[in-house]
Amino acid sequence: MSRLFYRYDERITNRPSVIEILCEWESYAPDNNQFDTRIGNAGEYITAAYVLGDPAVVLETIALDISRAEEMPPTFEELTGNGTWKTHKPGGKTVVLVDLTTAPPLRGNEYANRVRHHAIERCWNLYEHIMTFSPASAKNFHMNAGAYVARELPNSRPLHSTRRDGLVMQYK
Ligand SMILES: CC(C)(COP(=O)(O)OP(=O)(O)OC[C@H]1O[C@@H](n2cnc3c(N)ncnc32)[C@H](O)[C@@H]1OP(=O)(O)O)[C@@H](O)C(=O)NCCC(=O)NCCS
Repeated sequence: MSRLFYRYDERITNRPSVIEILCEWESYAPDNNQFDTRIGNAGEYITAAYVLGDPAVVLETIALDISRAEEMPPTFEELTGNGTWKTHKPGGKTVVLVDLTTAPPLRGNEYANRVRHHAIERCWNLYEHIMTFSPASAKNFHMNAGAYVARELPNSRPLHSTRRDGLVMQYK
């Protein structure tokens, strides 16, 4: 297993490869300009983890001024401002893990587990609540790390071809 090297916000390099990872499953994957906008709005809440210099995992998070899962915006579009991340509220009480994606050839190497663990460790003392805005298919991935289902979000990614229904899962 190789070491992961983390880069945040403007320091994210090799952006075309980072975007390629997002394109693999995100039906809202950004182009270069949109990704720059996302980083401009959310800064270090956008993370890329590199293996031997190449992007391997991308984690996009957002801060919100909410305290309960019931207050979570019900769709990806409302949560992220149509993918711009202009809805990010620095100083909010809750951090939301929105999208975690591993490059397909690197899956099954514990990288997603390690990136999630790293993010939760960083956020634990900074936020009152840590939630996810997940596709329902990620339920076991988060439950295995101690999260519980706080709310079901049917049709939360209405533009997504295969993962329309979602869940809010809560770590803290
Ligand atoms: C889900 C995903 C991030 C896992 O990445 P990975 O680096 O292969 O994951 P890891 O090797 O760290 O394994 C993490 C766990 O996820 C499980 N897992 C692997 N692929 C999975 C998938 N497609 N869906 C759900 N869980 C999956 C593994 O069995 C493992 O479980 P364990 O810790 O209980 O053994 C990856 O399959 C992916 O990018 N999928 C597309 C995007 C997606 O659905 N993201 C979900 C979160 S938003």
